Amino acid sequence: MTSNNSDHTGVEDRFKDLEDRRNQARLGGGTERLARQREKGKLTARERIEILLDNGSFQELGMFVRHQTKEFGLEENRPYGDGVVTGYGNVDGRLVYVYSQDFTVFGGSLGHAHAQKIVKIMNLALENGAPIIGLNDSGGARIQEGVVSLGGYADIFLLNTLASGVIPQISGVMGPCAGGAVYSPAITDFVFMVEKTSYMFVTGPNVVKTVTHEEVTFEELGGAETHATKSGVAHVTCTNDAECLLQIRELLSYLPQNCEEPPPSFEPRDPIDREDAELDSIVPDNPNKPYEMRSVIERVVDDGKFFEIHTDFAPNIIVGFARLNGRSVGLVANNPAILAGVLDINSSVKGARFIRFCDAFNIPLVILEDVPGFMPGTEQEWNGIIRNGAKLLYALCEATVPKITVITRKAYGGAYDVMNSKHIRGDLNYAWPTAEIAVMGPRGAVEIIFKRQIAEADDPEAVEEKLIDEYRENFANPYIAAEYGYIDDVFEPRKTREMLIRGLEMLKNKVAHNPPRKHGNIPL
Ligand code: HXC
Repeated sequence: MTSNNSDHTGVEDRFKDLEDRRNQARLGGGTERLARQREKGKLTARERIEILLDNGSFQELGMFVRHQTKEFGLEENRPYGDGVVTGYGNVDGRLVYVYSQDFTVFGGSLGHAHAQKIVKIMNLALENGAPIIGLNDSGGARIQEGVVSLGGYADIFLLNTLASGVIPQISGVMGPCAGGAVYSPAITDFVFMVEKTSYMFVTGPNVVKTVTHEEVTFEELGGAETHATKSGVAHVTCTNDAECLLQIRELLSYLPQNCEEPPPSFEPRDPIDREDAELDSIVPDNPNKPYEMRSVIERVVDDGKFFEIHTDFAPNIIVGFARLNGRSVGLVANNPAILAGVLDINSSVKGARFIRFCDAFNIPLVILEDVPGFMPGTEQEWNGIIRNGAKLLYALCEATVPKITVITRKAYGGAYDVMNSKHIRGDLNYAWPTAEIAVMGPRGAVEIIFKRQIAEADDPEAVEEKLIDEYRENFANPYIAAEYGYIDDVFEPRKTREMLIRGLEMLKNKVAHNPPRKHGNIPL
């Protein structure tokens, strides 16, 4: 009896000891530092995971990991977890892996043990084919651990690269992310940033001042707004941590678990044949008048719901996810409301990266086209519109997912070819009756081919206008392209939703391959 009792007490002691250790781990860098974290308007590493994952689904791995460093008196300070919470759980019932850096422990800095915890779950994510979400809030390489920290980062960069195109990788930047540390989020598929509390830069304001003599704040140099508008590093910005985490959940609802699975499908509520009469008058009579392509998208997709990526970067092209009849699609659309929808360097790169993501993860592409051509000018030419425009062309050429184009208005010049024309394996190429498909716009064309007649005319202006009208009448329409079979059908704008859904249904078992090779050489 006695010995049984003492055994029992022993086990209870061990249970209590376990719980004490867990509580220590949960305390991270201690109550004071946790309070400081909240004062900054940030959630703690664990609170973030709770919002990100389905209730009660988080299973932590590596809670008791501690660093083994003896330098700089670190052996006296060995908090459980080593500044990062790692594990797995569910989002909408589907498996995901997560790591969440804890700024209250050594400023979330990355040492050997911290890095190996991240590496462990990245490997699990890769081997088990499920998305990985990294929540970054870190002072960077742990200075006391020196080169071992740099090695830890490189281990992560390698896995980010190996996982690219295999599983979706999403980064939430929710605090500092500086130095080489920025390159892990940069390799991942989507970077979410929180306004005012997150920043990313390779070198901070002090170094910038020393080297270039520029005075710049953290926010101006690498805050969410900067990266959402100027650099394009951030794909989505959010006003606070909770919104950021809920947006990541929302994004995941459009994505498959890995490159071998189809994206999830949902029971559709929106009828397939829903027509929207407003679409018939959305393109203005005046071909030079802008209209907003987002309103076309919202009228066509399921429930008008569109998850836009890179909203404020290169807004002359729109990219994002939506559903058609319950299935995910990637939308790529020129936006005539901004710079007439012209293709420039940033819009080409934005479009190309999004297209490659969709192609890697079996998400069909819908291209809405209204593009006057590529942006002219020395700024564009000298900065490489040729090699950057080629990225968009390359991305669409190599994509083997179902690809449907709808030309709503202009499809001029090289941009006609680039925007998923039939010639580069567009599966279905449609046009609205308002489409204008030609080598160039009527004025430019007339001024070249009728140069002499116009110059010699009694009233050159009147002759030019007449020739422009004739050209528009005869050539700026979809029917010549349709005669060649480059356009599969012309239909009333109101029917767009139904045409897209029927097309995607027809293409749902599409199989297409590119020639075997090590990898292509996209013009970077
Ligand atoms: C070790 C660090 C740390 C680091 C912060 N801490 N960064 N410990 N290594 N890199 C610790 C601080 O000592 C402090 O500990 C706690 O984290 C909070 O830091 P504070 O400075 O008090 O916080 P705050 O004022 O909010 O400033 C945050 C910060 C600043 C801007 C991130 O800490 C900072 O500048 N840190 C250094 C950033 C940096 O230069 N990292 C190296 C980048 S190069 P206590 O005990 O007081 O709470 C790099 C290379 C990666 O990362 C290369 C990959 C290839």
